[in-house]
Amino acid sequence: MELVLFIGIPGSGKSTLYAQRFLNTHVRINRDMLKTETRERILFDACLRAKQPFVLDNTNVTRDKRAAYIAQAKQAKFKVIGYFLDCPVEEALKRNEQRTGKARVPNVAIYTMAKKLEAPEISEGFDELFRVKNDFTIEKISS
Ligand SMILES: Nc1ncnc2c1ncn2[C@@H]1O[C@H](COP(=O)(O)OP(=O)(O)O)[C@@H](O)[C@H]1O
Ligand SMILES: [Mg+2]
Repeated sequence: MELVLFIGIPGSGKSTLYAQRFLNTHVRINRDMLKTETRERILFDACLRAKQPFVLDNTNVTRDKRAAYIAQAKQAKFKVIGYFLDCPVEEALKRNEQRTGKARVPNVAIYTMAKKLEAPEISEGFDELFRVKNDFTIEKISS
């Protein structure tokens, strides 16, 4: 059982990564889709109870935010795998510009998240941690 935790500002490529790597194996928990924290919480708990691999496809930019999820997952004996989508603000803005309709977020959301971003560290409790680079190649950070 594993929780895959994404970390990345809007436009960094999280949902695309989910579609490319986890679509057929992991349930996706995503705020844009679920809209409310209550739904998110219910599904998060359900995945742990069901021992269902899942991806938390949210920005998770602060260490605090991640800590709560990591603690809960570990208690349920899940492995926690982190993917840090390490995307520069300028690049995220450019990608966001190319999106249409509801998929496009206000630029201020990107700036705000980038300002809050605390790069994840293995010591937070990740069993494995990966970095997705600007060119979408993936490298293992450690462990
Ligand atoms: N692996 C990729 N290859 C090419 N373009 C990508 C890739 N991942 C993301 N993108 C581009 O970046 C945009 C934002 O990606 P998305 O996955 O929606 O980001 P997020 O979910 O983090 O907001 C996409 O619309 C796409 O144009
Ligand atoms: Mg997304």
